[in-house]
Amino acid sequence: MAACGRAIVARMDSPVALIPQLAAHIVAAGGKRLRPLLTLAAARMCGYADGDRHVNLAACVEFIHTATLLHDDVVDQSMLRRGMASANSVFDNKAPVLVGDFMFTRAFQLMIEDGSLHVLRILSHASATIAEGEVLQLVTQHDLTTTEEKYLEVVRGKTAALFAAAAQVGAVVAGRPEAEERALAEYGHSLGIAFQLVDDALDYVADEAVLGKTVGDDFREGKITLPILIAYQKGSAEERRFWARTLEDGDQSDADFSHAMELLGRHGAIDATLVRAGQFVRQAQESLSLFPPSALRQALIDVGTYTISRAH
Ligand code: IPE
Ligand code: IPE
Ligand code: MG
Ligand code: MG
Repeated sequence: MAACGRAIVARMDSPVALIPQLAAHIVAAGGKRLRPLLTLAAARMCGYADGDRHVNLAACVEFIHTATLLHDDVVDQSMLRRGMASANSVFDNKAPVLVGDFMFTRAFQLMIEDGSLHVLRILSHASATIAEGEVLQLVTQHDLTTTEEKYLEVVRGKTAALFAAAAQVGAVVAGRPEAEERALAEYGHSLGIAFQLVDDALDYVADEAVLGKTVGDDFREGKITLPILIAYQKGSAEERRFWARTLEDGDQSDADFSHAMELLGRHGAIDATLVRAGQFVRQAQESLSLFPPSALRQALIDVGTYTISRAH
């Protein structure tokens, strides 16, 4: 992980000073580095030991992730990221969009340097899928007819695809058979879905100082996430009118967020979301049964447990 951190800093560099300046703003703020951890742990679990391809690809994965965060905060008009003012709140929208592009292309340079067409196929496919997920989310925003299936399609795209790719390339660098690649991809995919379900729950119930992001952003943005879908399905006609006014029409007053919280509580929507996340975590953990027990397999299992118990 330390080597991966060094690779990230080295590759942020550019003669155009605003690029490392803005990139450092978001990178120095930290981040859990969960996706690169998947790449490194998967590669090691698969027996990769004789090079640093996994380190560079882990950095590549984090570059893709960071690029999506820069863009996502512009799109979501989010003011807090990783416990600090978001890049768009400091630099306005234009610079984070362009530096996000730079980070995406840096990621592709790292893939090319790795030299494996197979790795390039996996990570470029994931990059396109993330973009599709974010666009699909834009289409479902403010739309209470969104189904749980549609919501999961957004989540598979915007979040699970990169988790899946991050884990899968670990098996690729180790030269493992396709069945192991597939098992790791499935692990990452299920873990990524769980991760986003928890994120969507935390957007309502987290402690903002711990989360490092503004609580209630999804409500204010009219995002149709699983907690909302559950409360809406169970809601009375009056409650449904409340959701339609606040989320579809975007007509919100200060008291509405606490009323939304009350309705989510009344229908156990947060708990039900976390239960669902737990099911995906177990599915992820079961995908690892193909591999013999080892400290690294246990680490990947523990990432699942962490994902549902996390507070940020
Ligand atoms: C945030 O991801 C975006 C989501 C998929 C919810 P993380 O929660 O992994 O963000 P950092 O990198 O730790 O800040
Ligand atoms: C995840 O969705 C964004 C990406 C995967 C790009 P969110 O919009 O929920 O992520 P946060 O909450 O802003 O981190
Ligand atoms: Mg967002
Ligand atoms: Mg979120």
